[in-house]
Amino acid sequence: MNPQRRSQLRRELRGRAGHWRELVAAYGTPLLVLDPYRVAAQYSLLTEHLRGFRLHYAVKALPHPAVLTVLAASGSGFDVATGAEVDLLGRLGVPAARCIYTHPVKKPADIDHAHAAGIRTFVVDNPIEAQKFVGRDPEIEILVRLAFPNPSAKSDLSTKFGTDPTDAELLVKHVLAAGVRFAGFSFHVGSQGSSVTPYRDALRATLELTRHVERTLGVQATTIDVGGGFPVSYRDEMPSIGAVGAVIDQVLGNHHSFRMLAEPGRFVVADCMTLLSSVVGSATRAGRTWHYLDDGLYGSYSNVMTEDVHPPILALSEVDGDDVAMPTLEPVTLAGPTCDSADVVAADYPMPRLAVGDVVVSPTMGAYTSVTASRFNGIAETPIVVSSAR
Ligand SMILES: Cc1ncc(COP(=O)(O)O)c(C=O)c1O
Repeated sequence: MNPQRRSQLRRELRGRAGHWRELVAAYGTPLLVLDPYRVAAQYSLLTEHLRGFRLHYAVKALPHPAVLTVLAASGSGFDVATGAEVDLLGRLGVPAARCIYTHPVKKPADIDHAHAAGIRTFVVDNPIEAQKFVGRDPEIEILVRLAFPNPSAKSDLSTKFGTDPTDAELLVKHVLAAGVRFAGFSFHVGSQGSSVTPYRDALRATLELTRHVERTLGVQATTIDVGGGFPVSYRDEMPSIGAVGAVIDQVLGNHHSFRMLAEPGRFVVADCMTLLSSVVGSATRAGRTWHYLDDGLYGSYSNVMTEDVHPPILALSEVDGDDVAMPTLEPVTLAGPTCDSADVVAADYPMPRLAVGDVVVSPTMGAYTSVTASRFNGIAETPIVVSSAR
């Protein structure tokens, strides 16, 4: 993390340190602190910059009831990918009409289950999937998922899902032959990309495809779903949501008639959760300082392993009190609590002097963290406490 980003985070986090100390005193560490107001704020930022879009929060990023409830109250739609996610929203009383089922490959029983719950929008990306809709409710609407490679993304989803745009016309024919409605196209430019141009290129190609299928098949695509992928600034600054919105507006222009959808996950929740962990032990190995934390790669920092995403880490003492001077930092290794040597959260990472019992803070720990954690070594999952700084 460069010094400017560290200073910026130290300023931003300063007012919250006292609240975190109280929570650590009450609950101990490791602890994830979830602030639902930050979810509402990110949702509202997205609505401001993705003008005219219907947003469907990607439940997989953080399916915590506090998140889903605040989004439901804000008017959000939801993007689900499994029967379990359908059931979770059902239990919270979210109307199925607000949900779209976007997994491109699913069991027929999953389609039955989602349809019985009231979901009518599904995604396909290959002919075998389209054939699963033969004989089903003709009111079902299908989005054809397109693949646009994006090497700049942390997770380039186009290798696993989506049809090559050159095969899309044939796939639309399969959808029509299945006897359900063809609604339009969806794509996902990959999660946590460092550039906005993949949105521009994918949207341009998709608009061209809508014109093409209208010419060749006489069908009108009414819906375009730009997926998720909106980047978050972890240790490095990333393009703002304003920059993403601007390229989308530029490509769409003012006079389109499409129903525009998006499926944001990371952008909505990354910022809402902060991890508080503490130093369990310290050692010097080959002349380097190691600190062992009570959370790691097999726990809340699972995103380091699964996505190569690197959240910022600061000492709580750095953001406590009014002292604005940067402490002396030395490069250390921060390791997780399991016996696996791969369980290293950060190497050669600048930290102030730390002692056993000191608390370290990682903001931006809401997306793809606790949800992909395991219980390796029998370590319990890190508790989540819902609490807003006063
Ligand atoms: C189909 C689909 N939509 C939306 C998302 C959310 O993406 P992000 O968290 O990058 O916004 C994902 C993430 O894997 C996805 O697979």
